[in-house]
Amino acid sequence: MSVAAKGPLGSILFEMRTWLRCMLPYTPYVAPFYPTPDSVISRLLDLTAVKQGDVLFDLGCGDGRVLLAAARRGARGVGFELDPQLAADALQAAREAGLEKLVKVVRADAASADVSEATVIALYLSDHGNSRLLAGVSRTLRPGTRVASFYFPVGLPGWEQKLTHTDRTDGLVVYLYKA
Ligand SMILES: C[S@@+](CC[C@H](N)C(=O)[O-])C[C@H]1O[C@@H](n2cnc3c(N)ncnc32)[C@H](O)[C@@H]1O
Repeated sequence: MSVAAKGPLGSILFEMRTWLRCMLPYTPYVAPFYPTPDSVISRLLDLTAVKQGDVLFDLGCGDGRVLLAAARRGARGVGFELDPQLAADALQAAREAGLEKLVKVVRADAASADVSEATVIALYLSDHGNSRLLAGVSRTLRPGTRVASFYFPVGLPGWEQKLTHTDRTDGLVVYLYKA
């Protein structure tokens, strides 16, 4: 059963479980499941000018909603997600939307992703998560890749100079970087 099909209480219990596992010692999980609001997704895609020809990577893609929104704009989406239920939900959502040709989901630690194909990277993680995952993918991250992070800035050394814009619409902050 998908997370959405669990109903309000089931979804809240699922989210709580994802919070708890982030607190375990040595966990690879750097953020709980908490989806980006739709209004922020469209803003993030506008700010990064996602269009046909782009390849958007979502590191920690959850139920795939950012990937689907990018695919609806004609871009390809690649998501990395550790949680098996969420990875399955993301694939199922792509199939149901008829977008499976544009969306790929990898069930793995996003810190090990090869992002050399990415023109855009979307993040909604945590301070620690941004640092851990971006440090992990830094070898394959191409200069010029647009990186957009909802809510959390990137605290890695040198990334203040890569910040190109901070959008604070409705108080929901999106940080934009050029790698
Ligand atoms: C805050 S949610 C964001 C989901 C989605 N990107 C969105 O914006 O709606 C963070 C997601 O990252 C996943 N995650 C956490 N650590 C991860 C890791 N090391 N590798 C892959 N996925 C991870 C969690 O399971 C969760 O689904």
